[in-house]
Amino acid sequence: MLTPAAQLTAILRRALAALAPEPPSAEFIASAEVTAAADARFGDYQANAAMTLAKARRTNPRALATEIKARLDLDPELTAISAPVEIAGAGFLNFRLTSAFLATRLGALLADSERVGVEKTGSPQRVVIDFSSPNIAKPMHVGHLRSTILGDCLARIARFLGHEVITDNHLGDWGTQFGKVIYGWKNFLDEQALAVDALAELVRIYKLANDLTDEQKQSAFEEMAERYLAEHRVSEGSAFYSESEAKLRKYFSPVRKAAQKASIVASEGSREELAKLQTGDAENRAIWQRCVDLSRAELEKIYARLGIHFDLWLGESFYNDRLAPLIERLQKIGLAEPSEGALVIFFRDDPKLADKPSIVRKRDGAFNYTTTDIATLEYRVHELGATAIWAVVGAPQALHFEQLNAIGRRLGIAVPTTHIAFGSILGEDRKLMRTRSGDSVALRDLLDEAEERARRIIEEKNPALSADEKAGIARVIGLGAVKYAELSQGRLTDYVFSWDRMLSFQGNTAPYLQNAFVRIQSIFRKLAEAPAPTVANDLHLADPAELALAKKLAQFAEAVPAVLDDFRPNTLANYLYELANDFHAFYEACPVLKSEGATRASRLALCRVTANVLQIGLALLGIDVPARM
Ligand code: ARG
Repeated sequence: MLTPAAQLTAILRRALAALAPEPPSAEFIASAEVTAAADARFGDYQANAAMTLAKARRTNPRALATEIKARLDLDPELTAISAPVEIAGAGFLNFRLTSAFLATRLGALLADSERVGVEKTGSPQRVVIDFSSPNIAKPMHVGHLRSTILGDCLARIARFLGHEVITDNHLGDWGTQFGKVIYGWKNFLDEQALAVDALAELVRIYKLANDLTDEQKQSAFEEMAERYLAEHRVSEGSAFYSESEAKLRKYFSPVRKAAQKASIVASEGSREELAKLQTGDAENRAIWQRCVDLSRAELEKIYARLGIHFDLWLGESFYNDRLAPLIERLQKIGLAEPSEGALVIFFRDDPKLADKPSIVRKRDGAFNYTTTDIATLEYRVHELGATAIWAVVGAPQALHFEQLNAIGRRLGIAVPTTHIAFGSILGEDRKLMRTRSGDSVALRDLLDEAEERARRIIEEKNPALSADEKAGIARVIGLGAVKYAELSQGRLTDYVFSWDRMLSFQGNTAPYLQNAFVRIQSIFRKLAEAPAPTVANDLHLADPAELALAKKLAQFAEAVPAVLDDFRPNTLANYLYELANDFHAFYEACPVLKSEGATRASRLALCRVTANVLQIGLALLGIDVPARM
């Protein structure tokens, strides 16, 4: 079934084509649209076609609007949908859906319990969605949480709309960090810790090796030694000052030297391990493989908990063998050229990127992130047959994707990678979210905390439930709250991560929406206990609250595809929030179980369809609904 907006648009286009003596161009007609009204006072839908056309023709917009209205008034299909069009302001055409149309539509939505009116796209794409994509041995942090939740939601919506979706976890499973990881593995690994939490243990050994080789950490050590000297020599005025200083320096000098030596040993060691890994040393390959397998197993647990599935796990390492031939090709066609020992792609004719060349092979011969991504792009387009690629990656990588697409164009690759960027998550202090130790928050701990907090809330609200039931509900509410907090925000804005706000049963939150669903379910439970309802075939809507709710329900079919216009799940989240509000207003104003006949049947239909939309809409956001809460 067409959405109301699509139906009205078709009618408007017909009216435009019938304008005499001079109908507008076919292009203009095709671009004319009826959209949901910005302000409900002026009706439900509106079109600004009269204004844009009048502007082009330099005529009076209101006069033109009157002519269009005259054509619209003759269209019997319009009469079935809308009250006569009203002209407002500078020449807006305003439509108001009739109660008869809304009642018929409600019946159709009731029958369509799987999709509630949402049509599949007429132009299905094969979309590769690259999201989550954390780096091994580096902590997976809340930034990756954003990518994971957003990417999964977009995948669900694209699939629901009939696109062929391939989700791909582009793991950072290769690169110079593995020299340090393997060095750390051979020198510092704690097998027991590895068995308990592999992701954390890999991060620990990597960080240890990295800190040892880090010049800044070295100078921090120097500073510490200086501070120690300053604190412990005799006071500066004393005659023994210089003697005390010299003695302390002498004492500390081997410690300093040892630290420096450790640093050199670790740096060289890490370099060696990396070289061995790259030349295929069996032991190092095996260690690397174990790191990848362990990380993947841990990640799978987190994704399973979040209900997220990846079709592919083509990490950076997957493209290894393709990089050398790729570089050769880039050189042969003259796209990459030597510059200061490295191999570089310049974008001289591109004003935006003219001074931002891409390095595709470093001076030491190593390939980098961009090189891998060129190979990734080729693979996705040429071998996976992608007609669209979406990469859900933080905003700081905007330049990277611009460069990548500029390279893709030069290589004649028809499909660009759409960078779906997002901002940061802030702690309640409005700084980047961190744990007390200063590390970014581990995802697993965060999800644990979400469930635990939700469990305490359930405990308070509904102490009579069994422990199992409480745990189940807590999971659905806790994880739902975390996901919804993300998805209800504009993706580009930074947002403050607030447990209290996201778990509140009031306001634009997951628990509020889940609760609306649960309340409707309880109506149907009561109904099952009550005597069988008299089912009226024709539905009938009269109360303004009924009409408002029915209209909102009809707009679900418009809200879902709109998400993909600019990759904004928050538009769907906001839609669901408004729906829940409309439902509550309806429920306050209109008794359901105590009403009778067609009114009762219509109100039950409103309840049923609302529950279906809430459930399907939340599922598209990756959020479950509990049976009770
Ligand atoms: N691993 C990268 C990071 O954590 C994200 C990878 C995104 N995908 C890509 N094809 N570059 O920053």
